[in-house]
Amino acid sequence: DLLIQPFQLAWATGALSHGPLIRKTTLLGDLSAIFTDGDATQLFPDRPAYAVDMFDTPGGEGELYVGVTHLYPGKVGDEYFMTRGHFHQRREQGEVYFGLQGEGLLLMQNQQGQAWTEPVFAGSVHIIPGYTAHRLINTGSQTLSALAVWPSTAGHDYTSLPHGFALRVIEKAGKVRIMAVKHG
Ligand code: F6R
Ligand code: ZN
Repeated sequence: DLLIQPFQLAWATGALSHGPLIRKTTLLGDLSAIFTDGDATQLFPDRPAYAVDMFDTPGGEGELYVGVTHLYPGKVGDEYFMTRGHFHQRREQGEVYFGLQGEGLLLMQNQQGQAWTEPVFAGSVHIIPGYTAHRLINTGSQTLSALAVWPSTAGHDYTSLPHGFALRVIEKAGKVRIMAVKHG
């Protein structure tokens, strides 16, 4: 066949189509460890916090995965909904995120513990370097959707931030505040 139809992405919503898909939904109840008021996640444990849609494509050295994260709006206490966040198991492997809809932050942290954020919005492009943990945070009132492209061999390491990320993002007096975390 000389003309193969491509997969498709609706840029305005992040809806993927025309290819085999995998969806993984993460519930609030799965995330008690990441929020300051973790116990509050158990009030609505079955509420979806985010969903990741991926094209079910072959992995392997040199291959890339494409997926969209839909992070729903909400807060746990005063802390905005966020993804679990991770380093890649293959530490050197980076990733690119593209903001599609909604408003939020991409929180990044290197292996020295330095952390910073970038605003995510429709059209934003984020080059996540290797050796850098990353987490999305939804500071808006709509779903935050971001497209991601990453090496299929990257893997996820959810355990190597023993103290969590060094920054927290909360709402205070109706405003988004980025706070440094103090470890005792
Ligand atoms: C893949 C990647 C994203 C996240 C997704 C969910 O490397 O960074 O597809 O996996 O945003 O976040 P986590 O995996 O931290 O629960
Ligand atoms: Zn990643």
